[in-house]
Amino acid sequence: MTIILDGRACALKITENIKRQTEKLSKKPVLAVILVGNNPASEVYVRNKQKKAVELGLESIIIPLPEDVTEDSILEHIYILNEDRNINAILVQLPLPEHINKQKVLEAIDPVKDVDGFTSYNFGRLILGYNPYAIPCTPKGIIKLLEEYRINLEGKKALVIGRSNIVGKPLALLLQNKNATVTVAHSKTDNIKDIAKNSDIIVSAIGKPNFITKDYISEGAIVVDVGINRVNGTLFGDVDFINTAPLTSYITPVPGGIGPMTIAMLMENTFELYKYQRNLFL
Ligand code: GUN
Repeated sequence: MTIILDGRACALKITENIKRQTEKLSKKPVLAVILVGNNPASEVYVRNKQKKAVELGLESIIIPLPEDVTEDSILEHIYILNEDRNINAILVQLPLPEHINKQKVLEAIDPVKDVDGFTSYNFGRLILGYNPYAIPCTPKGIIKLLEEYRINLEGKKALVIGRSNIVGKPLALLLQNKNATVTVAHSKTDNIKDIAKNSDIIVSAIGKPNFITKDYISEGAIVVDVGINRVNGTLFGDVDFINTAPLTSYITPVPGGIGPMTIAMLMENTFELYKYQRNLFL
């Protein structure tokens, strides 16, 4: 039997809990989002993040900057947000334009306000197994969803397809922390299909619609689809869901799987940073 991993329901549970707690606060947690340029996908993501934040009683401010903004100007905005005691969390929406040094920009964020966990301070602490201030939202959301369904990862062979800093790399670490045996595949990996066939858990984050077909899946595998691919206005994951799902024990849909979990984790991270900064133990 196949169980659909319902990211919407799990995210709702988490966000309702945050809402209950923020209702009691006189000063709201504040998330600042820097959005550079007019990337349509980024504009949608940022709008959705803000909508959710407001729904939950968090405050969200968006700082829109033009495509041709200078790196110094972005850094100046970050320094101001770092110093502003009213701001609890800072997110720089990616991707950034080519002329901007992403590393320099992300590293400028105060680690205590680094809601994505992308600074080397927080990422390094994640690698070392110390407590970072925040863990990247998408991988954290994947683990939470698997936990919600009480899926035991210990001793399981997990394949992560994609090695990005946003998803693949941190997810591999989190799966290892759960005692899974992890393989990270990427665009240069030979025979991904054979590795996938031999895996108990497959997480695809490569951004190619219908890349994972039923030929990649062994009976009873767990499949997590992180792909968000828009084709002629319709959303597709990386997985050929219709033909693959019947073979799996658990599978995430797109939409309604990892997407809502990512936003829920951003809200959770914002609230956690707020609590840390205010020394609150709610
Ligand atoms: N662009 C796509 N995913 C993300 C994310 O998780 N964080 C940021 N900052 N930008 C993104």
